[in-house]
Amino acid sequence: SAPLRVALLGGGTVGAAVARLLGERAELLAARVGRPLELVGVAVRDTSRVRDGVDPALITDDAVALVDGADLVVEVMGGLEPARSLIERALVRGVPVVTANKQLIAQQGPELHALAAEHGTDLHYEAAVMAAVPVMAVVRESLAGDEIASISGIVNGSTNYVLDLVARKGVPFEDAVRQAGELGYLEADPTEDLEGLDAAAKIVLLARTAWGLPVTLDDVQRQGITHLTDTDFEQAAANGTVIKLVASAWRSSAGGGDRVEVAVRPVALPQDDPLAQAREGANVLIVEARSAGTLRLHGAGAGGDATASAVLGDIVRAARVR
Ligand code: NAP
Ligand code: HSE
Repeated sequence: SAPLRVALLGGGTVGAAVARLLGERAELLAARVGRPLELVGVAVRDTSRVRDGVDPALITDDAVALVDGADLVVEVMGGLEPARSLIERALVRGVPVVTANKQLIAQQGPELHALAAEHGTDLHYEAAVMAAVPVMAVVRESLAGDEIASISGIVNGSTNYVLDLVARKGVPFEDAVRQAGELGYLEADPTEDLEGLDAAAKIVLLARTAWGLPVTLDDVQRQGITHLTDTDFEQAAANGTVIKLVASAWRSSAGGGDRVEVAVRPVALPQDDPLAQAREGANVLIVEARSAGTLRLHGAGAGGDATASAVLGDIVRAARVR
């Protein structure tokens, strides 16, 4: 049957990995989807740059034309605009969209879902939360028949990398941040990671999905890691604890209401706490559900290939349902 035309918006850390893996896994993906996938273009800003694993003939700066000629759109450019307009453009044509853009979904998710539903299509974003670790599917699908009580974890790979290197190896904070950038863990604006905004967006997406309540970024009690000092790390070590940036969400009936509390903050955890075990860019999520009990999901939460794995999973899911 005719190939499914895939448009890739973004050819950076994630986009280049997606483009390469679409090529390397062409046969496997075609078998899973039921028809071949054809990458028809990769939209970027700087068309002169050489990108590993990306055919230069596919590079374009005309994202609008690319979207208009696609059967499926993958948005991995990040930021609010033009990502939002391009996603809307695809959805109103009934074209499914796969995105890794947690900030956009945290801010515009309900509107974009409504637009997708109106046009008989769908929006997928497993990659936006904890990259390769399939947490959105667990919360949305596997636990759909259960009652989730709380969700907590380490959902940002770069800050975990920085905290781990500072605490275990004595690497200076700035050097650890630079290394996290070299590994492709940091956002284009690293303050999103360091000030807890990235983790805040992820816990909002998890909480909304778990409880179906209108949780927003403004609801998050948020603190990042930039204010931490050498003394904080020394004190934590002396107390036998380790500092981690913990994101959490729990259902609360405080004040007689039914609401969700959401927080992101550095916490000094005992060494044997499951969250304290996360090394380098790893992420961990602990979900407590009434019948399922305690679930612990652990794995690579950032990086090109790990994120591309989740993007490819969503591409297969989106392509199959058409
Ligand atoms: P990145 O390396 O900065 O890549 C962004 C890509 O988008 C670049 O190729 C850039 O073009 C292109 N781009 C940006 N603005 C554009 C515009 N206005 N028009 C055309 N192209 C544009 O970012 P990334 O790390 O791949 O992340 C992409 C998205 O995935 C973000 O939403 C991020 O939050 C999310 N994500 C990342 C990870 C990770 O580990 N990196 C994990 C999960 C989710 P140029 O190359 O020409 O600058
Ligand atoms: N900047 C993000 C992180 C990328 O460090 O976790 C993965 O979403």
